[in-house]
Amino acid sequence: MIQFQSVTFAYEGEPRSVLKGATFAVAPGEHVVLSGPNGCGKTTLLKHLNALLIPTTGEISIDGLNTRDRRHAPEIRRRVGMVFQNPDRQIVGMTVEEDVAFGPGNLGLPAADIRRRVDAALAAVDLDALRQRSPQALSGGEKRLLAIAGVLAMEPRYLALDEPTAYLDPVGRRRVLDVLDRLQREGIAIVHVTHDLDALLNADRLLSLDGGVIRHDGPPRAILKEPGAWSGLGLETPPVARLLERLRQDGVDLPADVLTVEEAARALQGLLAGRDAGGRTEGGPP
Ligand SMILES: Nc1ncnc2c1ncn2[C@@H]1O[C@H](COP(=O)(O)OP(=O)(O)OP(=O)(O)O)[C@@H](O)[C@H]1O
Ligand SMILES: [Mg+2]
Repeated sequence: MIQFQSVTFAYEGEPRSVLKGATFAVAPGEHVVLSGPNGCGKTTLLKHLNALLIPTTGEISIDGLNTRDRRHAPEIRRRVGMVFQNPDRQIVGMTVEEDVAFGPGNLGLPAADIRRRVDAALAAVDLDALRQRSPQALSGGEKRLLAIAGVLAMEPRYLALDEPTAYLDPVGRRRVLDVLDRLQREGIAIVHVTHDLDALLNADRLLSLDGGVIRHDGPPRAILKEPGAWSGLGLETPPVARLLERLRQDGVDLPADVLTVEEAARALQGLLAGRDAGGRTEGGPP
């Protein structure tokens, strides 16, 4: 369990607190997304998960280990794998394989164990075929996957990722999200900073941060339905939701909670089926 208790944080020499009393928990196996406008403190919060930053006041524990105690840092970093915003900064090996082996190598494990972990991590992100390639010769999407493989080789219980789909094309983005799904099914808890709608809707819980304060903590869909939720998260309302809202304002009987193209298609088909069955009457499908 990851536990944040009344965490505040100010960078050294800065008068202003970036985190202002964050309290929440992440259970093993859970998938939590963290969202909010630029500069609201998401990256700062994430860095607290593996003791890269220590709260100014308040407490954080990872499976009972308080991050304030420096002796716990190696064990905390083994339990919480961190994938940063810029994957280039995490690359250390001359080949993909060597890069993934770096972390387990530092644990002083026997060579056979390191090999097993490297194989498993590369398979988990589908990079087996590129194991001899130089990391510098990978695409942006492949570098993200390599960074994920590098932390998976540490066999973490929790994975913290800072906007892992930013700057990726739709295929690269889907690949990363699929990998995260698979890892969660295998029991790894995920804390994922994102502005990606699919990623938000797919999570168990959405934590929204606003000026260093947690504004929402709950099921993503329920939060996104609240008035003003999109702008509060630093997001644009998806065009399909705007379209249906516009039609509703024009008097078309459509549900108010449509967020995706799939849902919009179902709502419109329902409306058309209702019209076919009942002639041009008011009201929509049952
Ligand atoms: N090393 C630092 N020293 C001082 N202030 C910092 C430092 N890093 C970040 N900040 C400030 O802390 C605040 C929160 O930054 P943070 O990077 O956590 O935001 P964020 O939500 O991740 O933003 P983004 O969406 O742009 O990535 C910002 O006002 C930023 O300027
Ligand atoms: Mg950030």
